[in-house]
Amino acid sequence: MVRISQETTDDEPAVDAVHTAAFPSADEAELVAALRQTDAFVPSLSLVARDDGTVVGHVLCTRVRVEDDPSIRALTLAPVAVRPDEQGQGIGSSLVQTALDTAAEAGFDLVFLHGDPDFYSRFGFHPAEIRGFENPFETPPEVFMVATVGDDSDEGGPLSYPDPFDHI
Ligand SMILES: CC(C)(COP(=O)(O)OP(=O)(O)OC[C@H]1O[C@@H](n2cnc3c(N)ncnc32)[C@H](O)[C@@H]1OP(=O)(O)O)[C@@H](O)C(=O)NCCC(=O)NCCS
Repeated sequence: MVRISQETTDDEPAVDAVHTAAFPSADEAELVAALRQTDAFVPSLSLVARDDGTVVGHVLCTRVRVEDDPSIRALTLAPVAVRPDEQGQGIGSSLVQTALDTAAEAGFDLVFLHGDPDFYSRFGFHPAEIRGFENPFETPPEVFMVATVGDDSDEGGPLSYPDPFDHI
């Protein structure tokens, strides 16, 4: 049975291994390690999926700033990964949904991400540029998405991401 809970310090090597196995390079594992050291890190939004106690998935949300209105409480969801031999069973979906629910409970308003629209639209993510947000990365517009989990706002404009995203 798969359960989702907050990552502990003891989980860090297993989380690193999940990202290294799921992605083509160690970049995402290194991103997670670097983000843990920043002010943008929110411990309750670093979530692990455990199958019989073994970590098989992880999702991280960290704070981003809406430059034109820093009172908006915003996050970016990145990265999310499930160990390859455990994919396709709903674990990734549970991680994303639990991250959004946890973000809402913690009082956040918006969650941004860059990812596949077919996968993320089912969780309420919509193209962010249509809402006036500027994509901080050189990705196709359709992969830059936002979901509202708290107060909605008409504010758009540029976003400021934690420094470790500059190196990915
Ligand atoms: C994306 C990922 C987290 C999904 O986890 P999962 O446990 O396989 O997801 P679920 O079983 O809940 O959902 C599977 C759905 O995700 C889709 N999916 C699988 N890999 C995907 C990917 N890389 N990008 C987008 N969608 C993906 C599948 O097509 C499937 O869709 P369906 O429900 O219409 O059949 C997992 O495949 C993974 O770790 N991929 C490698 C890392 C990655 O690309 N992370 C996302 C970018 S940060």
